[in-house]
Amino acid sequence: MNKLIAGNWKMNCDRVSAQVLVADVVKGDIPGNVDVCFCPPFVYISDVVGDDFPKNIFFGGQDCSYYGENGAYTGDVSASMLKDLGCEYVILGHSERRQYHVESNNIISKKVEHAIKAGLKVIVCVGETEKERQEGLQNPVVIMQLKESIPEGVGGENLVIAYEPVWAIGTGKTATAQDVQEMHGVIRRYVQEKLDKPDLVRILYGGSVKPENAAELLQIENVDGALVGGASLKVDQFLAIIAAAK
Ligand code: 13P
Repeated sequence: MNKLIAGNWKMNCDRVSAQVLVADVVKGDIPGNVDVCFCPPFVYISDVVGDDFPKNIFFGGQDCSYYGENGAYTGDVSASMLKDLGCEYVILGHSERRQYHVESNNIISKKVEHAIKAGLKVIVCVGETEKERQEGLQNPVVIMQLKESIPEGVGGENLVIAYEPVWAIGTGKTATAQDVQEMHGVIRRYVQEKLDKPDLVRILYGGSVKPENAAELLQIENVDGALVGGASLKVDQFLAIIAAAK
C-alpha cells in the first residue's frame, strides 16, 4: 500500500499561484510508490486538475455537502460535483469544519456516506483538543469520533483516517513520536475490529508536519502518510515531505 501525502491548502492561493504550485510540485522528484493528493479550495480545482499527470497524483476537495442529491442548497458543493471535476478524494470532518461550522460526528457521517456513494475516497479527520489531552481523554474522544463519523460498511481503500491533534494544527507543536505511535495503534485496533477490509485503510498523521519532522513521523508504525497544511503551500517543503514517504 502506497503512503499518501495529502496537501490541505485550506482557504489559500489564488488562481495563478494554485496552478504554479501544482505544476512545480509535479515537476519535482515524486517517488512512484507515494500517492500525492492536492486539496485546493473548490473554486480552483478545475484550474489545477490535468489529464497528463502521473498515476500517483490525485486531487481532492476539502469538504462536501451534507445533502446528497443536487438541489436547492445555496452555497453547497456536492460530492458528485467533486467527482465530476476529477477529484479522487475529499477531506471530511476537519477540526476547522468541526469548530467554525459546528459540524458534528453525525453530520460528518452523512457526508461520508454521500462521498462514498459518489465514488470518492474519504479522508476523515479525528483528533483531540489540548484540554482533552491534558485530561487524558484523547483515546475515548478519538474512538467516539471514529465510531460516530464513519458509517457501518465503510472501509478498505475508500477510507483514509487522518489523526490531527487539534493543538498541533498550525501551531508548530507536533505530537511526540510516542504520542503518535500510541494513537495510531489505538486507531488501527479500532479499524481492525470494526471496519471493512481493515488492512487497506490508511491512517495519516496531521499537525505541523514539516520537512524537519516528516521522516521521523512517517517511519512510525501505522503511520501511512501525512495530511499537510502550511507546508503543502511551499513547493520545496511539500516535495521534501513527499520524499520522506518513499
Ligand atoms: P498544519 O500542517 O498547517 O499544521 O495543518 C495541518 C492540517 O490541518 C492539515 O489538515
